[in-house]
Amino acid sequence: MKKNLFAALLAVLSFQQYRAQNPLAIPDTLSGTNFNLSIYDTSHVFYPNFTTQTFGINAGYLGPTLFFNRGDSVEITVNNMLSDTTTIHWHGLHVASYNDGGPHTYILPSSGWNPKFKIRDCASTFWYHPHLHMKTNLHATKGAAGMIIVRDSAEAALVLPRKYGTDDFPLVLQSKHFDAAKQIVTETAYDSVMMVNGTIDPYLQVPAQVVRFRLLNASSERVYNCGLQGNMVFYQVGSDGGLLAAPVSMTRLRLAPGERAEILVDFSGLNGQNINLLSFSSEFPNGYYGSANPAAMGNGTIAGYSANALNGADFNIMQFQVVASTANPVTTIPVSLVTVTPLSSSSSVQSRTLTFEPQNMGPSQMLNGPFEINNATFMMNVINYTIPFGNIETWTLSNQTAIAHPFHIHDVQFYILDINGSAPPANQQGRKDVVLVPAQQTVTFITQFDDFCDSVPYMYHCHMLPHEDDGMMGQFIVSCPSVSTGPEQVEADALVIFPNPATDGHFILQGEAVGRIERIAVSDISGRIVYASPVQAGNTYELHFGNLPSGLYTVHMTGPDFIQHRKIQLIR
Ligand code: C2O
Ligand code: CU
Ligand code: CU
Repeated sequence: MKKNLFAALLAVLSFQQYRAQNPLAIPDTLSGTNFNLSIYDTSHVFYPNFTTQTFGINAGYLGPTLFFNRGDSVEITVNNMLSDTTTIHWHGLHVASYNDGGPHTYILPSSGWNPKFKIRDCASTFWYHPHLHMKTNLHATKGAAGMIIVRDSAEAALVLPRKYGTDDFPLVLQSKHFDAAKQIVTETAYDSVMMVNGTIDPYLQVPAQVVRFRLLNASSERVYNCGLQGNMVFYQVGSDGGLLAAPVSMTRLRLAPGERAEILVDFSGLNGQNINLLSFSSEFPNGYYGSANPAAMGNGTIAGYSANALNGADFNIMQFQVVASTANPVTTIPVSLVTVTPLSSSSSVQSRTLTFEPQNMGPSQMLNGPFEINNATFMMNVINYTIPFGNIETWTLSNQTAIAHPFHIHDVQFYILDINGSAPPANQQGRKDVVLVPAQQTVTFITQFDDFCDSVPYMYHCHMLPHEDDGMMGQFIVSCPSVSTGPEQVEADALVIFPNPATDGHFILQGEAVGRIERIAVSDISGRIVYASPVQAGNTYELHFGNLPSGLYTVHMTGPDFIQHRKIQLIR
């Protein structure tokens, strides 16, 4: 009894007396509408006197924080200076599939990629990382990842901290495994070193006022249970894809790989104090990567897991050292934020069930995989779903394995309808692109596949990167509509297609709007894409159909700021 009391006292004291050693690195920023990113095979010093081989983007480790404004058309040049092929995916952004940077959009060594897209997302925190099939974990764990901050007018109208590096801070959480020579090892069950923004044992000076943190779980597998020392209250204001309707007061925030959360902490009156941010992983139920036992049931184990001191423990993530407040500080937590209007379940026209299972049954496989979705492992050349443009759908994720999986889908943000039959907690009622599906539970979400259709597929997958690399991934295409329903129509005479019908197999596109086209896809009457190509058009463009049979087709023209669908007829 006395001993327990003593241990508890010691734990409290050690949290209070602990003094973090290293100033938190704050990633550089890039803003405007033209962005240059170069991915390097480089090095970084995590430990004094050791040089660690890393991947970095315009830096030795991680990449710059990109600032985008909703409504802007941005152009990004990504240079791959690695000796390996890679891709860069804009996680959470609603962009056309050929701009999304999935596994099909290779960037070969010593070459570049040049996506252009309009920012359509709400103000929130997104991120970017490589997505080459079977190499996402390697490339991301080596350090090729960065944060994206989208701003919009609704967010700008609120009294929120938004001075980057002053009262608004990015916190990229990662746990990693280093070998004796301090080189990164990607066998992640040994990920016992915690870092934030690439800094081990970091402290950050924060002003004595309301401060905003943008938390990103960029770890390969680990789930965190974030909380402040002494159970100090904080407020979640944003989920993956946007602000919440109102701040949610909380003392614990569960953050799974791929998820983001914006939180406010009120440090008013705490000048001179040190407050630690911890992961209270001892409180996790079994079945999360990070809890004492990663298996919700059965007797499987993960190699290296039980020896990893972070698992099932309450550990420090970083330390906030409160200093004097700034000029014009934010001192109150807003009462409400933005209007969040979830899609109503009655508007769904299609439901799908995705079942997670191990490829082979057995206690070890239930925990380690390889896992599959609906009995299928990822195949680059298999389209798992063809989704009609504009569809509102409900997807039910059924986890039949022994461990929780963070499910992520590209293209869209979704709204969680239920978690194992119950309404989601308030902080998960906003826009989401990752949801943690606990072992033996189901999650249902609703989403709409609007704005983009093309023959390039989008991905959905588990965001535990070794699971994704092992094939716990699938892909869908959004098939184009057969009528002109684009949300941003151009004037009829700004884009003319003639002759129509055409008898010699070629059409001419003419008009001012032609210069805004970056991509043309053509579907046949069944919605199947029969032609897709990037274009660099001036005011005229010729479409040649060497061998398409007679019939009605729809031409889908997309650019960063418009979408247009037109019917054409081919007569042979
Ligand atoms: Cu963050 Cu498909 O990934
Ligand atoms: Cu993504
Ligand atoms: Cu998984």
